[in-house]
Amino acid sequence: ENNRFEYILLEMALSFEIIARFNRARAARLTLPHFTCQTPLFMPVGTQGTIKGLTNSQLEEIDCQIILGNTYHLALRPGAELIDELGGLHKFMNWKRALLTDSGGFQMVSLLHLADITEDGVTFQSPVDGKPMLLTPEESIRIQNKIGADIIMALDDVVKTTTVGPRIEEAMYRTLRWIDRCIAAHKRPNEQNLFGIVQGGIDPILRDICVKGLVDRNLPGYAIGGLAGGEDKDSFWRVVAQCTAILPEDKPRYVMGVGYPLDIVVCSALGADLYDCVYPTRTARFGTALIPEGVLKLKHKAMANDERPIDTTCACMVCKNYTRAYIHYLVMKNAMGSQLLSYHNLSYMMRLSRDLHASIVQGRFPEFVQGFLRTQFPNGD
Ligand code: GUN
Ligand code: ZN
Repeated sequence: ENNRFEYILLEMALSFEIIARFNRARAARLTLPHFTCQTPLFMPVGTQGTIKGLTNSQLEEIDCQIILGNTYHLALRPGAELIDELGGLHKFMNWKRALLTDSGGFQMVSLLHLADITEDGVTFQSPVDGKPMLLTPEESIRIQNKIGADIIMALDDVVKTTTVGPRIEEAMYRTLRWIDRCIAAHKRPNEQNLFGIVQGGIDPILRDICVKGLVDRNLPGYAIGGLAGGEDKDSFWRVVAQCTAILPEDKPRYVMGVGYPLDIVVCSALGADLYDCVYPTRTARFGTALIPEGVLKLKHKAMANDERPIDTTCACMVCKNYTRAYIHYLVMKNAMGSQLLSYHNLSYMMRLSRDLHASIVQGRFPEFVQGFLRTQFPNGD
């Protein structure tokens, strides 16, 4: 018995217990080295070791359980060596709950048009001094081992969703070759969980090969990548449905870069568990609030004398204390405007996560989804 227990601990640094299901949807408990999370779960994105405009205690107050860091940004500044010297990212930013770092390749491709991908890795021009730099699978994992997040992501070859032709196939096979280099480079499998990323565009044959190749590596979790980049909803949902149908039941499934509340509800119905997106915080900085009916534009002049809270159904600190009129007055003029909106928007995403979890546990997931859709689309479109 003892030996078996040790063997499991040596293989990965998480446990994933499904508490309840409704058809393909799952409510689970994901125990990571720094925190036990409830899924389905939205994970807010921070770049410079912070979620813009929110303190750690505010993030805990609104029930954030995992936050994302970016290998690319953190490696440039302050650098992996310094973070390691200072005791890892958890200690450096004083975040007690779980952390996830993305591998960096995706950020380079999406941020730098000068990134060039070869079999070795991703070559890019350093934004610091303009010198060419190379991020290999080994280097990405070495940096992520130093940062010390609970979940680390494999370096994948990401192509724009709108790409066509043999490049999609090349990127999928390269992602599979790179996973073995990531696994070999990973020095802390007892403390950090390496997730593989399924690529393959919207081609079901390529997605199938990629899922099977990754599942053969018996990783602690799997991500579905290469989505939410401009493909139509139907293709997007089809890829998620196909991947969740063949990914192992007993491992967490993470849909990267997703998304909108509606996408999270649909992907959860299809059996996905984890999500991340800059949308709630980015749209807050542009003056938009997420509400059950969809979005509320605080810049609109109709808000100038509106004494209601952003969302009358929301119990967050912002909705309890401030009016639309006040946020309208601040927004785009004062940092507090986007901070209050970010706080509300992330509260909304965390409430959505809790509602999804609770409705699956309580056997009323279809009613929850129906209510969600009716509120967002009252005219049935
Ligand atoms: N973030 C959003 N999509 C992706 C993806 O396909 N790969 C990685 N590494 N990060 C992402
Ligand atoms: Zn609120």
